[in-house]
Amino acid sequence: MNSDIQVNIPNKESHYSIHINQEPIENLKNTILDFLGEQNYLVVISKKVYKLYGKSLNFDSNKILIINDGEKEKNIYNYLKIIDRLEKENLTRKSYLIAIGGGVIGDMAGFAASTYRRGIGLIQVPTTLLSCVDSSVGGKVAINTKKSKNMVGSFYQPSAVFINLNFLNTLDEKQFKSGLGEVLKYAFIEKSCMNVIDYKFFDFLNVNAEKIIARDFNFLDKIIRISLALKVAVVTKDEKESGLRKILNFGHTYGHALEEITDFSAFTHGEAVIYGMYFIFNYAHRLQLIDANYKEKAFSFIDKFGFKDKPNMFNKDKIIKYMYSDKKVDNEKIKVIVPVAPGFVKEMDFDSIKAFK
Ligand code: GLY
Repeated sequence: MNSDIQVNIPNKESHYSIHINQEPIENLKNTILDFLGEQNYLVVISKKVYKLYGKSLNFDSNKILIINDGEKEKNIYNYLKIIDRLEKENLTRKSYLIAIGGGVIGDMAGFAASTYRRGIGLIQVPTTLLSCVDSSVGGKVAINTKKSKNMVGSFYQPSAVFINLNFLNTLDEKQFKSGLGEVLKYAFIEKSCMNVIDYKFFDFLNVNAEKIIARDFNFLDKIIRISLALKVAVVTKDEKESGLRKILNFGHTYGHALEEITDFSAFTHGEAVIYGMYFIFNYAHRLQLIDANYKEKAFSFIDKFGFKDKPNMFNKDKIIKYMYSDKKVDNEKIKVIVPVAPGFVKEMDFDSIKAFK
């Protein structure tokens, strides 16, 4: 499959393509520069990716800003470093920022692109599975504050997204599994995404787990395309997360709490989302929103991808405290997305007493 995925955000001049291919990485620079035409640009790239692919990408060294890896780097200081460089290079409103890396680079460089001169062009080149299936598309860009993840940010759609599967070959196991966390999420929310095609994504993933874990490119291509089709169906209906888009946070409220409790050092984002999904399935079962059969089916599906539930990892009061600090808390109430039937989820108030009985 080689066709592009189109994203058309209504009431905005925001129409862009997600290009997915397996071409040599050496081709990427020219593909992107063809898209930019005559416009000037700056590449913001992850140090890890630069070490592995800097030569193949072959951008002029004076057009590159290298940023260290890790969630802790998604901070105001690196954001300012990007802004300083954009200003130093005299980039105008017509210029582009090309973000090459995982979610940290995409989110932070995206936020810089959205604020420098009130917004310049943004090209996302996601190099991790997680950024391919989630963060590079949909326009959420942000940096973290000392206290909270993604606390300062905006909604800013890219001008184009270029996904090259070859980057996934060198992804370490932990990062690959992190991406799987977000992929599995789509299997549980598929029917609530209001997409016209029924991919039966749960069954597809279940049957092909081995090939996916082995990183067979045909299957990676397919799971990225399905995940993105579902995400695009959601964000084109609700770009600013006033309703439907909240379902993309399935597993995230508890997941973010885990990431914050451990100062972003114990879990990758996707892994935290996985524990968040185990947690919310247990919760939904306790509240009789789902039956034991669906819960068991969901657990063995997640387990199949190399995960295992670890209930009671942290003190419940600590977890609740961090769940309250989530920026999606509404009127002092924690809101969670819960499973209600295979493929279906809904939003509801979180009952911390029932959750930890
Ligand atoms: N990662 C969730 C969203 O884009 O809304």
